[in-house]
Amino acid sequence: MTHVKAAITGVFGYVPDYVLTNAELEKMVDTNDEWIISRTGIKERRILKGEGKGSSHMGAEAVKGLLEKTNTSPEEIDLLVCATTTPDFIFPCTANLICDMVGIRNIGSFDIQAACSGFVYALTLASQFIETGKYKKIIVVGADKMSAITDYTDRTTCILFGDGAGAVLLEANNEGYGLLDSIIRSDGVGLPHLNQKAGGSRYPPTHETIDQRQHYVYQDGQQVFKFAVKKMADCSAEIMEKNGLSGDDVAWLVPHQANKRIIEATANRMGVGMDKVMLNIQKYGNTTAATIPLCLWDYESQLKKGDNLVLAAFGGGFTWGTAYVKWAYSADNE
Ligand code: UT7
Repeated sequence: MTHVKAAITGVFGYVPDYVLTNAELEKMVDTNDEWIISRTGIKERRILKGEGKGSSHMGAEAVKGLLEKTNTSPEEIDLLVCATTTPDFIFPCTANLICDMVGIRNIGSFDIQAACSGFVYALTLASQFIETGKYKKIIVVGADKMSAITDYTDRTTCILFGDGAGAVLLEANNEGYGLLDSIIRSDGVGLPHLNQKAGGSRYPPTHETIDQRQHYVYQDGQQVFKFAVKKMADCSAEIMEKNGLSGDDVAWLVPHQANKRIIEATANRMGVGMDKVMLNIQKYGNTTAATIPLCLWDYESQLKKGDNLVLAAFGGGFTWGTAYVKWAYSADNE
């Protein structure tokens, strides 16, 4: 008997128009294009400008495009899950706002916070509702406006992040396509190495927290780098072994885009050549929960029905995770 799986049947992305180049960053902090490219692979990133626009704006644009492209009406959607670390508000959640903006009403919608692993977490969770038969069509969004929490006087972090959103449609599939397996993990040892200290319930905003610049991302890059390389590679190797996949069986590695060197290490460990690795860090930087759906959006035209994809992510928490997806359609015969 073939079990019902959650297949990705459409993907759409949104990035803001404004391009923040390495050259512009050189004018803001003591950095240079050569350092940024050689240490991270990033050439430029997108920044959302405009009063009153948060992550929901980008998420809603991605969802609107997805509904249109897949000929799906808002009434057909059973659930919307948004992975974000930069919600518009502490509450209500960004998923509620996105639903409102695109005319999706009377369904469950909520956010998932797993930092850069958010999309893999959200995909894992959403697929359960399809596997149990409870829901037929679910939208999973990854949306982050990292520029809202980036300190543009800190050269160690401001070169890394960008804004963007991506969304996928999940539908029930009983022909063997979809999310076939996933692993999600976390370890709270990550707190001191990657965090936004103030603004939550432990350290609510005060003049002092603002003066001390505690509403921005703090990252101990080297520590995070070490964990990221190990955990992303370990867990990708684990899911391959568990599912009897060799490097040759993997059509695409879809890695979180935090640092090109972390991506290369993961691909190397999996025995997957860089020609089979989705890479768009050079143009978008690290968009947190949006990196993986933005990669799928960028590479969609090259994907074929039956391709084995391994998604892999690592982020604050620490959180990490991987997903084995059998791609459900070829772009030319959707
Ligand atoms: O997505 C969530 C998870 N996040 C990640 O996975 C990110 C993990 N970490 C990284 O990707 C890397 O650690 C960074 C890209 C953040 C930094 O690269 P690195 O190779 O670890 O550099 P470093 O922190 O060891 O710094 C090397 C040198 C230092 O100078 P000294 O002490 O050797 O004189 C830094 O001060 O580079 C200096 N530096 C810079 N120089 C020019 C740090 N930032 C910059 C900069 N431009 N922007």
